[in-house]
Amino acid sequence: MRTIDDLQVTGHRVLVRSDLNVPLDHSKGAPRITDDGRVRASVPTIQALLDRNAKVIVCSHLGRPKGAPEEKYSLAPVAERLAELLGIPVAFAGDGGGDIAGDRAREVVGQLAEGQVALLENLRFHPGETSKDTVARATFADELSALAEFYVGDAFGAVHRAHASVSEVPKRLPHAAGRLVLTELEVLRALTAAPARPYAVVLGGSKVSDKLGVIRALLPKVDALLVGGGMCFTFLAALGHPVGASLLESEMIDTCKDLLAEAGDRLVLPTDVVVADRFAADAETAVVAADAIPDGWLGLDIGPASTAAFARVAAGAATIFWNGPMGVFEFAPFAEGTRGVAEAVAAGGGFSVVGGGDSAAAVRTLGIPEDDFSHISTGGGASLEYLEGKTLPGLAALDV
Ligand code: 3PG
Ligand code: MG
Repeated sequence: MRTIDDLQVTGHRVLVRSDLNVPLDHSKGAPRITDDGRVRASVPTIQALLDRNAKVIVCSHLGRPKGAPEEKYSLAPVAERLAELLGIPVAFAGDGGGDIAGDRAREVVGQLAEGQVALLENLRFHPGETSKDTVARATFADELSALAEFYVGDAFGAVHRAHASVSEVPKRLPHAAGRLVLTELEVLRALTAAPARPYAVVLGGSKVSDKLGVIRALLPKVDALLVGGGMCFTFLAALGHPVGASLLESEMIDTCKDLLAEAGDRLVLPTDVVVADRFAADAETAVVAADAIPDGWLGLDIGPASTAAFARVAAGAATIFWNGPMGVFEFAPFAEGTRGVAEAVAAGGGFSVVGGGDSAAAVRTLGIPEDDFSHISTGGGASLEYLEGKTLPGLAALDV
């Protein structure tokens, strides 16, 4: 496995694929980054290359624009934040257009001196980045590759995407895995190889269908699988409970029945639920038993008894992996489940890993010290697919 220490980058142009896909708030004037965790996590690799006097060209996606420029997805605010964190100017190559690796990028890159850094505009403004058409992807990968002499893959959050910048460019340039990718992999290997027991997993988030693969893969390996968030209601429905107006994937009920039968008491569901009369921060709320959600009400968080029970399991775990909020934590009345679980995971003495975008953002939004966890991953989808045992295109391309 090649690392950046194996590349002779001094004086050369290095294209670094990072995952700078951060949440932005557009509600007042200039867009504001609400959680810069991914920008901070990208700094060590970029800094290490600058320290070796490389000319560093950073690239990333942001959001899901559809292959054409959209101002609200511009990486311009990220360029500013990156410059603050690095303490040097970042030459931003965006010009409002979709020619991401074209004339303007070549000009900016051509002016870089050793130890200087540029950021390309959002890769997904170009249709070639995510195209299903191999030729379109290859053509864009050729353009990106032409900007640099080396490639460093460090976008852990995007390694599960077979996109041009992730899996095609490394086929064209001498490449290495960045520091973030290596750190994330080390943690995931520790979770997969021989996790200290008891091994508990807490899963939340809205859809069972998104988590099905990982539930199937983890069930035989864990001592407890705790399920909260929107997806718990499909499991409650599978037990025959009424779920009112809660999120429900009816077509998944039979699958959930099978999983419950297979898992026995290792799969733990909430016993109480915070319900609301509508989806709003100022809705009327009540705590009800998980088998008694009233008609027309919707569950928006796990209840206090469930939070305490989940926290007890978390406290006793020697290894714990948590992915997905327990409720709609963005609204204060429905944040306590997520807060309780996060605090218990943080307080436990075991190896604790927070998996991914939303849960990592929840930790920071709720103000829980990041250092209280063994590791906070920058990749939700990527870490779940790894734990599922899938081949990740962005890792395969780096030969790791
Ligand atoms: C993420 O936020 O999960 C990663 O940045 C990947 O983004 P995507 O799900 O839009 O491919
Ligand atoms: Mg995602």
